[in-house]
Amino acid sequence: MRKRIIAGNWKMYKTMDEAKSFVTEVKGRLPESDQVQAVICPPSLYLSELTSLSEDSMLGIGAQTMHDTDEGAFTGEVSPKMLAELHIPFVILGHSERRQYFNETDETVNKKVLAAFSHELTPIVCVGESLKQREEGKTVETVAMQVKKAFEGVQAEQAKRAIIAYEPVWAIGTGKTATANDANDVCKEIRSEIGQLYDEETASAIRIQYGGSVKPSNLAELLSMDDIDGALVGGASLDADSFVEMIEVAS
Ligand code: G3P
Repeated sequence: MRKRIIAGNWKMYKTMDEAKSFVTEVKGRLPESDQVQAVICPPSLYLSELTSLSEDSMLGIGAQTMHDTDEGAFTGEVSPKMLAELHIPFVILGHSERRQYFNETDETVNKKVLAAFSHELTPIVCVGESLKQREEGKTVETVAMQVKKAFEGVQAEQAKRAIIAYEPVWAIGTGKTATANDANDVCKEIRSEIGQLYDEETASAIRIQYGGSVKPSNLAELLSMDDIDGALVGGASLDADSFVEMIEVAS
């Protein structure tokens, strides 16, 4: 039985005060549930403070990206070693915005995935097709290739702990959600790709989230699908009421 995971990707939103109020409020409102893991991924500047604030609560904290090496002359970057030192359990890697605006490629994502595992961080590996790729019927091919490249050199025991977020690029921040059936079909293909790369055991252990305009009102249907184990949520994770409601729906 896979534990669901609802993760809020805050992107570059919220002031420090807003972030602290959110965590203070939400940690006291999360339902006691062993069915679901609740995570927020704030801007990296807030990670340390929010990690302390959320201590002894059900709320996990994750980073939105990181570099692939431990240290070096990489102005502005945050390293996996630094995240591990702060005991950050999760890191989002290869988000489509990172691929689109910061030149991340399948190769750099793979390096980061390997680096995350070497520091015992759990990567949330993002994959997803563009509108053009979907219209050309290349969704499965695109996503399978992204998964294959991201997991190159990753051991089965590590892959079992990984999380994959299937986020069709055309559904991000647009209000257009893939239908639950369509999302599930792609998540199923992702699981089958993991099965081919590793084995059945790994495929049934790995958790696959859907992301793209998820909100409290469409989450239940998405989670009712066999291969969808959670959601990576942007806009709707910024509001405390809506975040708590999504955790309740998933509980
Ligand atoms: O990583 C989450 C994301 O890209 C989806 O954003 O605002 O469509 O939920 P949103």
